[in-house]
Amino acid sequence: MKPRRTKDRQDYYYWKAKEKGYRSRAAFKLLQINKKFNLIKPGYKVLDLGASPGGWSQVAAELGAEVVAIDLNPMPPIEGVIFIKGDITQKSTLEAVKELGVDFDAVISDASPKLTGKWTIDHLISIDLAKASFNFAKNFLRHGGNFLVKVFQGEEIEAFYKDIAPNFRFKKFHSPQASRKRSAEVYFIGKGFKRKPRKEK
Ligand SMILES: C[S@@+](CC[C@H](N)C(=O)[O-])C[C@H]1O[C@@H](n2cnc3c(N)ncnc32)[C@H](O)[C@@H]1O
Repeated sequence: MKPRRTKDRQDYYYWKAKEKGYRSRAAFKLLQINKKFNLIKPGYKVLDLGASPGGWSQVAAELGAEVVAIDLNPMPPIEGVIFIKGDITQKSTLEAVKELGVDFDAVISDASPKLTGKWTIDHLISIDLAKASFNFAKNFLRHGGNFLVKVFQGEEIEAFYKDIAPNFRFKKFHSPQASRKRSAEVYFIGKGFKRKPRKEK
């Protein structure tokens, strides 16, 4: 039996994703964020970190981007999306993306740790993963490019912001309507990446 669509946003977006053929309800978070902040434009090259099952990659491809997606877990193919199975904290994954020889216009990361249910631990692991996403992204993000990363709120979030914010012209935390009301997640949005000049080889 279908849950009622009235009060519970979780159910609402779950069924809406099914209806529209998206692989995850998270697809609507990216749609809402992109509507507001215009991070992905047609023709953009987008790197999607923690991409499986592929809702964000579907949205980015629909917006007219060429997408490279990475995840620890497998991801069923999506037209226009190159998938690399790997861990963003591992050098081998970095090397696999380097081999593509692409500078990306946007890097988006919805990567999540396996939740323990303990707020503080989940927060700290998510901060580490968000930092890993940025460390990965900065190798490939073009000067002026856009960055989006999920993080769970908690006491380290200010320090995280202080570290990452100077790398961008525009920076902000945002919670899209499609995020669950009770969820700790927020998204850091950085636009206008200040890329450091590459060292000559
Ligand atoms: C919430 S899901 C992403 C959902 C996706 N944005 C979508 O719309 O379908 C989080 C993903 O992050 C991945 N992940 C977590 N840690 C990772 C890591 N170190 N490297 C790569 N992927 C990771 C998980 O395997 C999981 O598939």
